[in-house]
Amino acid sequence: MHEETKAAVLHLLLDHKVVREVIDRLEMKLDEFERKGEISISFMLSFLNFAKKFLDKCHHGKEEKCFFPALEKLDASTETPIQVMKLEHVEMKNYLKEIEEKLNAYMNKEVGIEDVINPSRDLIGLIRSHFFKEENILFRIGVEIIPKDEDYKTVDCYENIEKELDHEKLLKEAEEIKKS
Ligand SMILES: [Fe+2]
Ligand SMILES: [Fe+2]
Repeated sequence: MHEETKAAVLHLLLDHKVVREVIDRLEMKLDEFERKGEISISFMLSFLNFAKKFLDKCHHGKEEKCFFPALEKLDASTETPIQVMKLEHVEMKNYLKEIEEKLNAYMNKEVGIEDVINPSRDLIGLIRSHFFKEENILFRIGVEIIPKDEDYKTVDCYENIEKELDHEKLLKEAEEIKKS
């Protein structure tokens, strides 16, 4: 990334780092569940709670309400990749819903462990490829074209969303998940 990486981009990169660490932990736990033939319900509930708030509401909220509109306004050619990213955000939301439903069914002994593990692995794969695309396309464009004043405005926009969602508490939850 550029030496003078914009605050608006750095901020999103930090979110990606937190999410990557949590899904790395999730992946290790899924391997463990497979070995043991049993799912830790409490781990999965903590993961779902974190992902719904931090990834779906907070991070995707910052991208869709603050960063993407700033980019689109400055460079109309970003419209198509932004549409693709928004579709993938919806796909992630659907995976989270599916994992939650399957986890409930697993708790009621209606489905097996693979029904919870498979959509969880699909979600991990989607998040990794999504972050790769954002970082290599839209974040790079953002670093190039966002002027200083727009950079500050975008960060203000993020901070409003973070306040609503208690970002600090969510960061603590991420630490707990990584240790659990
Ligand atoms: Fe995204
Ligand atoms: Fe992102």
